[in-house]
Amino acid sequence: MQKEYENKTTRVAVIGTGFVGSSYAFALINQNVADEMVLIDLNKKKAEGDAMDLNHGLPFGSPMKIWAGDYTDCKEADIVVITAGANQKPGETRLDLIEKNAAIFKSIVDEVMNSGFNGIFIVATNPVDILSYATWKFSGLPMERVIGSGTILDSARFRFLLSDYLNLDVRNIHAYILGEHGDTELPVWSQARVGLEPLARYIEKYKPEATQEDLDQIFVNVRDAAYDIIERKGATHYAIALGLIRLTKAILRNENSILTVSTLLKGEYGLEDLYIGVPAVVNKHGIERVVEIDLNDEEKKQLVASAETLKKAMKPVHEIAAVK
Ligand SMILES: NC(=O)c1ccc[n+]([C@@H]2O[C@H](COP(=O)([O-])OP(=O)(O)OC[C@H]3O[C@@H](n4cnc5c(N)ncnc54)[C@H](O)[C@@H]3O)[C@@H](O)[C@H]2O)c1
Repeated sequence: MQKEYENKTTRVAVIGTGFVGSSYAFALINQNVADEMVLIDLNKKKAEGDAMDLNHGLPFGSPMKIWAGDYTDCKEADIVVITAGANQKPGETRLDLIEKNAAIFKSIVDEVMNSGFNGIFIVATNPVDILSYATWKFSGLPMERVIGSGTILDSARFRFLLSDYLNLDVRNIHAYILGEHGDTELPVWSQARVGLEPLARYIEKYKPEATQEDLDQIFVNVRDAAYDIIERKGATHYAIALGLIRLTKAILRNENSILTVSTLLKGEYGLEDLYIGVPAVVNKHGIERVVEIDLNDEEKKQLVASAETLKKAMKPVHEIAAVK
């Protein structure tokens, strides 16, 4: 039986305190959502330094227990967030990271499970869809308790760029990116909404000067955002950290939030046996349900193509899982 969070000490374990993990840890101390946070990294000194630095900020925030620990500390964790592993070098795709990171994941997930962990995994390491599937396979946990960050960040980027283009509050833009968190992802233009208006109708009424080229470019900027940021500063980490916080809160506060995460499909969207970014309801159980939104024919085709790319790239995971 999974633990209930009410009236208990909540613990988050962060595995990998590089750019993404440490940004997430910093954001978490500002959110008053967990009581304890343990930082685990192959580079123990980095985790220790981060724990010291974060602890020194506590007088300015909310009480929390933070320490650099090891895998035994995962036993009591409600959520293990994995951000460990190689990141993209300039020009490298996310799928290029599969060989390196699948092997790392086998050892990490085994260690976490050996601790007696009985909570929810959130996976952010790339290629996130494939490593979420790997975490599900390696851990033996029910699929609802292994969640990948999926296209949570891509949808946020999409919403931001649309809001910027339309000069509107980003919170009034409702639009999803689905599919692989990577080069084959797709924008769901057919369902994008501004307030309650369909996006196309809003543009027709209030931004008639908008062009198809502008909209196409917005998607290209979403899809290629990681390349553009990595070229400038070597890593992307703040926005994904906030996306991971959003997921953490949805779980610990039992929010029943609809978020575009990577989850196992079992026939939804006509797809099965893969993790891929789709909207899903997230609460204290993890994934409560996948939400199947209507896609037009072109979007359906793009989603199937994205799924095929992921399935082809999954070979190293199947090989490692077979050795088990
Ligand atoms: N899902 C997303 O939207 C998204 C966004 C940005 C980055 N990422 C991914 O997050 C991952 C981390 O990126 P980063 O920029 O923080 O990288 P980084 O190199 O800064 O940090 C990685 C950390 O993992 C640690 N590590 C490596 N192997 C380990 C192991 N076996 N056990 C424990 N710790 C280990 C390293 O010591 C390092 O501190 C990358 O795969 C990156 O592509 C995902």
